[in-house]
Amino acid sequence: MNTAVIGLQFGDEGKGKIVDYLAQHHDIVARFSGGSNAGHTVIYDGKKVSFHLVPSGVLSGKIGVLGNGTAINPWKLEEELEMLGELGIDARILISSRAHVVTPLHQEIDGIDDELLGIGTTRQGIGPAYVAKYRRVGIRVHELLDAEILRKKLRLIARMHGVEHDERLVAELVERGRKIKGMITDTELWLNNAMDSGKSVLFEGSQGTYLDVDFGTYPYVTSSSTTVGGIVTGLGIPPQKIHRVVGVAKAYTTRVGSGPFPTEFAGEEESRLRERGAEFGATTGRARRVGALDMSLLRYATLINGVTDIALTKVDVLQGSHEIVVGTKYVCNGTEYEYPPPELEGCSVRYVHLPGWNDIEDDALEKFVEYIENETGARVSMVSYGPERDKIMVR
Ligand code: IMP
Repeated sequence: MNTAVIGLQFGDEGKGKIVDYLAQHHDIVARFSGGSNAGHTVIYDGKKVSFHLVPSGVLSGKIGVLGNGTAINPWKLEEELEMLGELGIDARILISSRAHVVTPLHQEIDGIDDELLGIGTTRQGIGPAYVAKYRRVGIRVHELLDAEILRKKLRLIARMHGVEHDERLVAELVERGRKIKGMITDTELWLNNAMDSGKSVLFEGSQGTYLDVDFGTYPYVTSSSTTVGGIVTGLGIPPQKIHRVVGVAKAYTTRVGSGPFPTEFAGEEESRLRERGAEFGATTGRARRVGALDMSLLRYATLINGVTDIALTKVDVLQGSHEIVVGTKYVCNGTEYEYPPPELEGCSVRYVHLPGWNDIEDDALEKFVEYIENETGARVSMVSYGPERDKIMVR
């Protein structure tokens, strides 16, 4: 059985922990979109390990695949593999020959663009790498050893953005290419073969549904498909091979960077929850914006991703509150919406108040979970109540 893990909010739902848990029951863990903008934190051997590019499933000794839909910064990859090596983890990685390469030039352009647009990107060069892909000047992994092609493309990219290109980058890229040469393969062929011979795959989503370039809060989104369709195009996997879709949702909502956030808290309420939930970005260290659980977002994300079951995370953070406030519907220009309309700016939210819980055995937590099931139509099959591996309740 192959399983997809998809974020149902704005990223940072706690996918790393759920992937770490589910990876134990799969042979391969594959990423299909994004790059080092992602940040998945997992507690391993009592230590906090932050993943950005490498699929976090490698912690369970599984083979990690970086599909053609990902954007790979070879410097960041090297750093992360070294960090894992120091922890005694020998990460086995395969990289798609068709994946796109991110360089310091893309990072520089990301900074310039973000100054102009104010999206609040992670400045990892992800947007410019996907722009280069669609402008048909992107550098693909299989070209990493070809200095001539690299020089030509880097010059073109620099010219298109009106910045200078540093010639030294060519030799550095070739050097990085030499280091990862043994990991490069046509991963779509390798994966389909593996599945045909009975191996199971966990598709590890990055970011979340509302950062998806089509279904997110455009233009405050990342530049790739973070929803379930991204698996098909980002790995070369036919849709019928995705058997289960686990949507990960935090018991409240957070967002990093700019963009609409209808259930956002303010003042004391926000800072208290941020501190309790340790809501600071794993990639940039930025303080996350914090707000109430938003059922309009969950309903839509469940629908478009074909979520079969939900993993609800961080319920321990809300523990001890007298009541839990949950957004149920939007009202935008006088019209009520069950699902988010394409523009959320200016929408107000209808709320319900549910009883809070004091511990995970509390009946009020079960009622909260049932409320989510009724509203989304998906079963909540996992409830996570702490960062440690064993703090998960399977229902
Ligand atoms: P980019 O992906 O760096 O281009 O950033 C675009 C938007 O997505 C910004 O608001 C980022 O803060 C957000 N973003 C990107 N990756 C993540 C993530 O892994 N978690 C949460 N937000 C993210």
